[in-house]
Amino acid sequence: MTNTLESPSQIDQIIEKRFSPRKFTGTPISEEILGHIFNQAKWAASCFNEQPWRFYYAHQGSEGFDKIHQCLSEGNKPWTQNASVLIIASAKTRFARNNKENRHAWYDLGQSVATLALSAWEKGIGIHQMAGFDAAKAKELLKLEEDEDAVTAIAIGPFDETKEDRSRNSVSDFTKNIE
Ligand SMILES: Cc1cc2nc3c(=O)[nH]c(=O)nc-3n(C[C@H](O)[C@H](O)[C@H](O)COP(=O)(O)O)c2cc1C
Repeated sequence: MTNTLESPSQIDQIIEKRFSPRKFTGTPISEEILGHIFNQAKWAASCFNEQPWRFYYAHQGSEGFDKIHQCLSEGNKPWTQNASVLIIASAKTRFARNNKENRHAWYDLGQSVATLALSAWEKGIGIHQMAGFDAAKAKELLKLEEDEDAVTAIAIGPFDETKEDRSRNSVSDFTKNIE
C-alpha cells in the first residue's frame, strides 16, 4: 500500500475512467465473471455488517430479462435491450437480528453497487444504474420480500463507447474544512 500521489494507481484510473455506458454490445457475460463481480460487491462496508443488498439478475434472452426490462421507464427501455444482464438491486430495510428498521440499508446498497461498478469496469464491463423503473411493479414481478425496497435497476455488459465530457462539481463545492 503506497501513500504517495506520484503516479495514478490502478484504482485511481478505474475510478476516474468509469462512466455509465449506453451502447452495450450484447456480448454475453459468463456466470463466472458475473460471480466474480458480485463477489467483489460483497466486500462493501455496511451498518452492523448487515449486508442488506440483494441483486435479482437475468441474462439477455431469458424470461427474467424480459420481466426486468418491462419494469423500466420508456426512456430506459431502448438502450437497455442490448445489455448482457439486467439487475434489480434492492435493500433489505429491516435488520435480520432484531427486525428493527435499518435506515442505512439504502446507503449500504449504494456502496455495494459502487464496488460492483469498479470491479466490473476493471474487467472491461460497464454498468449503468437507473432510477427510471417502476419499483412497485418490480417488487411484485420479482416477488421481493415485504421489507425489501427495489432501489435501482442496473444494465451490465461489454460496451463500445467512449465518454469525454464528464462534468463534476469541484471538490471545494462539496467539502469544508471545519478546523
Ligand atoms: C441512482 C442513479 C439513478 C440513475 N438513473 C438513470 C436513469 O434512469 N437513466 C439513465 O440513463 N441514467 C441514469 N443514471 C446515470 C446517471 O445519469 C450518471 O451516473 C451520471 O450522469 C454521471 O455519469 P457517469 O456515471 O457516466 O459518470 C442514474 C445513476 C444513478 C446513480
